[in-house]
Amino acid sequence: MVARKPLVAGNWKMNGLRANLAEIAAVRSGISDARCDVAICPPTTLITEAIDAAAGSQLMIGAQDCHPALSGAHTGDVSAEMVADAGGKLVIVGHSERRTDHKEADALVRAKAEAAWRAGLMAILCIGETEAERTSGATLSVLERQIAGSLPEGSTAARLVIAYEPIWAIGTGLTPSEDDIAAAHAHIRSRLLDMIGAEAELIRILYGGSVKPSNAASILSLDDIDGALVGGASLKAVDFLGIVAAAN
Ligand code: PGA
Repeated sequence: MVARKPLVAGNWKMNGLRANLAEIAAVRSGISDARCDVAICPPTTLITEAIDAAAGSQLMIGAQDCHPALSGAHTGDVSAEMVADAGGKLVIVGHSERRTDHKEADALVRAKAEAAWRAGLMAILCIGETEAERTSGATLSVLERQIAGSLPEGSTAARLVIAYEPIWAIGTGLTPSEDDIAAAHAHIRSRLLDMIGAEAELIRILYGGSVKPSNAASILSLDDIDGALVGGASLKAVDFLGIVAAAN
């Protein structure tokens, strides 16, 4: 079996003021012995200060979204180059909240991942089914469609991470059964293998959706799960560090 270094990534979403930078400092000091990769994506307003707070440590800071273009007349948007220029290392693309709130379709998500690579950033590409899709038994076909539509050509493990996030599990406290998580991850891996060949064995597939310290160890021990994308439980260093410990 191929060894993949786990990644635990926190997504603060639209949460966090400068006072919360203390959580970044606490995560930084709590991961000095971590054997997994650790990242936090704070809101754009805090990226620069978060990078300063993480400087000299293995904590990577990233953004929650980027525009596909290099620069230009796109009010309110931030380019991947701007994130890289600030010192960011990664960007989340295609999060379900962006797909829903901003009607982002697969082709746009793919363009954003390509923009991340152009700027030298790693992209965490999110996919996942709605509650209705799950109930109708469409989970695996939805994942397939999203992978086919949003995975750029030239995906490598160094610059692409996939996050499987069932939309109904995000922020709800609900999680799929371990069998369902394992089946989704195995399916994603096999589709990646079909599309890009052997490199797919090296690409990390994270699980996201109500991961917390109390369920992280059992979820992260499943086959083909290479870490977690964490929303709510990434806001407090003590919770986030509990998840990092489970990944170690
Ligand atoms: P949650 O969010 O951990 O709060 O469920 C996960 C995510 O949206 O990435």
